[in-house]
Amino acid sequence: MEDSDTMCGIIGYVGNKSAVPIIVDGLRRLEYRGYDSAGIAVVDDGHLAGQKAKGHLEVLEGKIANKFLSATTGIGHTRWATHGTPSDINAHPHYSADSRFAVVHNGIIENHHELRAELTKLGFKFQSDTDTEVIVHLLEASYTGDLAQALLHTIARLKGAFAILAICESHPDEIVAIRNHSPLILGVGENANYFASDAPALLAHTRDVVFLDDFDLVRATQADWKVWDAQAMIKKLGLDNGNGKIARQRVPSGMTGRVMNASMPSASRRRRPVHLDMSIEQAEKGGYEHFMLKEIHEQPTAIENTLTGRIGKHSTFLSELEFIDNEFWRNLNRIIIVACGTALHAGMVAKYALEDLCEVPVDCAVASEFRYGKSPVTKNDLIIAVTQSGETADTLAGCEEAKKKGAKILTICNVLSSSIPRLSHATLYTHAGPEIGVASTKAYTTQIVLLELLAIYLGRIRGTLSKKNAEALLDELWSIPALVRRTMKLEKECKAIAEQYSAVANYMYVGRRYNYPTAFEGALKLKEISYIHAEGYGAGEMKHGPIALVTGEFPTVAICVESDIYDKMLSNIEEIKSRGGNVIGIASSGDRKLQKFVDRILYIPRTSEIFSPILSVIPLQMIAYYAAVSRGCNPDKPRNL
Ligand code: M6R
Repeated sequence: MEDSDTMCGIIGYVGNKSAVPIIVDGLRRLEYRGYDSAGIAVVDDGHLAGQKAKGHLEVLEGKIANKFLSATTGIGHTRWATHGTPSDINAHPHYSADSRFAVVHNGIIENHHELRAELTKLGFKFQSDTDTEVIVHLLEASYTGDLAQALLHTIARLKGAFAILAICESHPDEIVAIRNHSPLILGVGENANYFASDAPALLAHTRDVVFLDDFDLVRATQADWKVWDAQAMIKKLGLDNGNGKIARQRVPSGMTGRVMNASMPSASRRRRPVHLDMSIEQAEKGGYEHFMLKEIHEQPTAIENTLTGRIGKHSTFLSELEFIDNEFWRNLNRIIIVACGTALHAGMVAKYALEDLCEVPVDCAVASEFRYGKSPVTKNDLIIAVTQSGETADTLAGCEEAKKKGAKILTICNVLSSSIPRLSHATLYTHAGPEIGVASTKAYTTQIVLLELLAIYLGRIRGTLSKKNAEALLDELWSIPALVRRTMKLEKECKAIAEQYSAVANYMYVGRRYNYPTAFEGALKLKEISYIHAEGYGAGEMKHGPIALVTGEFPTVAICVESDIYDKMLSNIEEIKSRGGNVIGIASSGDRKLQKFVDRILYIPRTSEIFSPILSVIPLQMIAYYAAVSRGCNPDKPRNL
């Protein structure tokens, strides 16, 4: 697993200046990572104090105006909710019951249910619905006078991804921090040290940063910072046997900064700061030129986040659906997928998966048509709304109409508690993190992943998918992020193709079955950001008219991966070639046959056909991106959108 970035933003400051303005400025710089709520905690005059607020950062700013100005140590968080709706209570920081410890966290704690049950038995009272709150209670339970030690004992119990900052009022000049699969950097300043999820939050204060590794346990004070290897210490202390039950430690009262370093070993890990030359704007884009390219590259991690906690050893956990009676799924009359644009294309891929695995008829409806249509809908129909934002007006209206007629509404969405999830009976969130580029990339692939997981889940409930086949599909699905990572290596070739054809007036995209929607998506991506006219077609439909368009003046991208209809695709490609067309083939790696029929070929890793659209779209996203760039268009800000 690489960075499992759930896209919240965290920041910490310990120094000799007023902490609040620095933290708030850092949060503003991190707001692009998430923005449903925000909060800060500081050690002010020997006491922990803080504020949190639902909504954009301005709401928090309004609440803390002129407060806590003498505090010189503090942490902050801007949230993109994954567990628990956006609210004041679920916003970070989270506090221990005795209000001495505060924690901010980015990531997902997979075993939070078990830990919550264990801690509740010990008498800890939970305030929020978040997975994060277990961390602060564990910290309190583990504390014996050394904050770094307490964090070490805490994370020994955690499974999942985390970047954590913790402060305690007994240690007014100290922040402790650790990461595992979630990004965290340490900024080294003059009489100050900083932490942040991402460099943009720090660059105004320091350009000397340490990119922390997994299990780097850090203690920073105004004057110093030290890093330990937490994994080695966990091993040495025997905390890694999984049996380390939580026990409340006797908490010494009146601890002060003087006792710090009492129990951490003096030998620490060597970490050297590097000097960052990039601008703040470059840093926000993770060093990529545009958000779209950054988001294309985030897909392996985004897909991991979609799957995390939902695939067990050979089973699917969609706890959000458990309240729906199995009888409903078994008696399902039909599914109508309602969506717009890219989200509709994800739905079109899902149609094949749901029909194949669940043996239920599926219609895909363009939301702007469906909402005004008279399609009869009954209580045995399921509407699946697919939407990144959860706010698209046509999708919303279509769902409202269908709900009135008695249908059940299930939404696949990326933005927690947005309007469409709020009216739905159930929602499955993609957890892809905010999509800033207008051209949808990671939202699309995570929607397909989640819809296909749903198809496996329903196939088992409906008895239409054998246990053995479900297990094989789940194993393969779990390997998809790694295959997406491999597919990213096509970038150079995609760039070359995009540049070669940057002056053409048209592109054609063709595919069949699972990759029929890929053709539409490839065309949509290209036209919306490069303004080259593009058409997506079913390859078998070409002979019914559009083949008349084919000349040698523009390329046709043909998605021709391993499948039962591979030979049919080949003959469709031959038809295009024989009319003088240029063909760029997207093929499964190891395919030597297609080479002879096409002008250029891009190989993606081999998968079952059902999962191939997750990979085959990636070169198409990249071609669109580089076509836009080579034509001088800004892919993040398409005109008219
Ligand atoms: O937020 P939604 O997924 O409901 O938005 C639907 C479409 O507007 C969206 O998918 C659009 O087509 C893409 N951003 C295009 O790249």
